Amino acid sequence: MNDDQNLKRVPKHLAIILDGNGRWAKQRHLPRLFGHRAGLRKLENMVRLVKREGIRYFSVYAFSTENWNRPKMEVDGLMSLFRYYIRRKVDEVKKEGARIRFCGRKDKIPEELAKQMQWAEDYTRDQNILDFILCINYGGRAEIIDAVNNIIKSGRQDPINEDDLKKYFYLPDVPDPDLIIRTSGELRLSNFWLWESAYSEYYFTNTYWPDFDEQELRKALDDYAGRERRYGGLKS
Ligand code: FPP
Repeated sequence: MNDDQNLKRVPKHLAIILDGNGRWAKQRHLPRLFGHRAGLRKLENMVRLVKREGIRYFSVYAFSTENWNRPKMEVDGLMSLFRYYIRRKVDEVKKEGARIRFCGRKDKIPEELAKQMQWAEDYTRDQNILDFILCINYGGRAEIIDAVNNIIKSGRQDPINEDDLKKYFYLPDVPDPDLIIRTSGELRLSNFWLWESAYSEYYFTNTYWPDFDEQELRKALDDYAGRERRYGGLKS
């Protein structure tokens, strides 16, 4: 296989469902928030690894529309972790040439955090090596409902097609995920990239997110590279 072919086998958009932080902490008799902190450290390193692989879009499911149902202490802890990340880590991300983007509903996000999110997006807007997409208060069903409601609001009356709908999604310019990884042994999508995952490849591992390292990423990418994607067509 020549270099050109090799390049084609790297996902353009890699998405990860970060799961297992709580169980990772429990295994160590630590509070759940320690698991989320360990998960954040792992994520910081993953941004560098993903960039090195030549992946152009990297999205992570960090907080779903359903996660508000967790105990207040955990929700507050996660919100402060997001604030900490923006305050302390955005410069490093920018130096890597990465643009930070948030994906999800804007309601319910605490005001201070919402402001910081906007700032981080503006501050990194010109970076063009990697789009690092943090899905916070994201739900695939919510995204579709929001898109449909916005189409109704626009006054449109004639039938729409798939491209029309996509224009109303949170990040219309981002290509659909090629590969979706879920850690911690759960075998479901949990409302992540619901529409966009129609032709995504999936990779599941039992490893808890805070233990997901470079070797694990390599395994997932190698597995993906060996798959044939047919998009409903026939073998090429
Ligand atoms: C799922 O594990 C994980 C979350 C709900 C939070 C993920 C968040 C992080 C890794 C921090 C990310 C920080 C930024 C800035 C994006 P779980 O709690 O459901 O684990 P469990 O299933 O073992 O209980």
